[in-house]
Amino acid sequence: MIMINYINLSISEQEYEQEISPLLKKIFLKGNFVGGEEIEEFENNFAKYIGCKYAISTASGTDALILALKALDIGVGDEVITVPNSFIATANAIEWIGAKAVFVDIGEDLLIDVKKIEKAITKKTKAIMPVHLTGLACDMDEINDIAKEYNLRVIEDAAQSIGSKYKGKKTGSLGDVGCFSLHPLKNLGGIGDGGIITTNNQDIAERLRLLKNNGLITRDEQQIIGRVSRLDTLNAIVLNHRLKKVDSVIERKRASAKKYHELLADIEGVELIKEAADKFHSYHTFVIKAEKRDDLKRYLFEKGIETKIHYPILIHQQKTFQDRGFKLPNSERLNKKILTLPLNITEEEIEVVAGEIKGFYRVSS
Ligand SMILES: Cc1ncc(COP(=O)(O)O)c(C=O)c1O
Repeated sequence: MIMINYINLSISEQEYEQEISPLLKKIFLKGNFVGGEEIEEFENNFAKYIGCKYAISTASGTDALILALKALDIGVGDEVITVPNSFIATANAIEWIGAKAVFVDIGEDLLIDVKKIEKAITKKTKAIMPVHLTGLACDMDEINDIAKEYNLRVIEDAAQSIGSKYKGKKTGSLGDVGCFSLHPLKNLGGIGDGGIITTNNQDIAERLRLLKNNGLITRDEQQIIGRVSRLDTLNAIVLNHRLKKVDSVIERKRASAKKYHELLADIEGVELIKEAADKFHSYHTFVIKAEKRDDLKRYLFEKGIETKIHYPILIHQQKTFQDRGFKLPNSERLNKKILTLPLNITEEEIEVVAGEIKGFYRVSS
C-alpha cells in the first residue's frame, strides 16, 4: 500500500468552495468559454511575472513549442539543437513541424552541456532549444553567445521552470521565446491542458497570435495559414488566480528540497544536484542520482513510497529516433541513476523518505 504518493492534485473542499467555485461560476454565468478578457488578463499578468513584454497562451506546452518554432520560420530541412533527456514533447515539436532534432549530451546537472553545442552546429542549424529540466536554468549566457555567433534562435523549453531564475532574470525571458506548460502537474498548473509563450519581440508575438487562431487577422479575414490552439477561459481564470500563489508553491517546494539536501548529503550511493549560486531553482521536481537505482526504487515502493523516473527512455533511444545513430554517453550513464523523489509532501514525510533511502544503502552496501 502506498503511503507517500508522488502526485496529489486534489484540493480541499474549503479551497474549492471559497476560491475556485466562484471563479468557475463567473464564466458559466457569462457564458464565455473561449477567449474574453479573462484570457487577456492572465496573459498580461503572466508576462509581468516573467518580465517579458508579451505572453501568448496556447492549448498546451507542446503547442507552445510547435507554434514558437513556426513563428520563427523553422521547418522542413532545418535542424534544432536540444537534449535527449526531456519529455518527448521537446523533440516531438521539432519533428512535427518538419525540422530535425539534433541531440547534444548533458552535464552532471542534467542540463545541456554548453561545451558540446558548437560541435553539433551545421549549415542547417536554425535554433537551440535548451530545456530547464526540473526547474533548474541552463547556462543561458553561454547559449546566447553561441546563438549570436552562429545567428541562431533560442527557444527556451521552460515547461518545467516557471519562477526559475538565471542571474536574477526569470526563465522564459532569456531567449527569443520561452515556452511554458500549464499542465496540472506543473508548479503553475491549471484544470486541464494549457501552455503559454513569452517573448519581448513584437513581430513574433503578433505572428503567434495569428498562428494560434487559424491565421485570422479579424474574425473573417485570414493573413497566414494557422491552426487553433487556445487556452480555455475556465482554465485561464483558475490559472490567473493560481499565478498569485505560485511563488508560495515554489517556496514550499524549495523548503522540501532543502530538507532533502540536508538529510541526503552524506549518503554513499546518493549524489545530489547542486544549486549553482547564480541560479534560482524552482524545483518542479527533485531528482537524485542513485547507485542501484532500480533496486532503490523497488525498495522504496515496498515501503509505501512512490517515486518516478523522468524519463525512463532517452529520446534518442525511442524507436522513433533510434535510427539516427546518436551516442550520448553522459545522458546514457546518468539515465540509469536518476530518480525523482516526492516533493509535494510534509516535512515529516520527507524525513521518512530520506530515512528509508539511508536504510536501503545500509542494508545493501
Ligand atoms: C520539458 C517539457 N517540455 C514540454 C512539455 C509539454 O507540455 P504539455 O504537456 O503541456 O504539452 C513538458 C510537459 O511535461 C515538459 O516537461
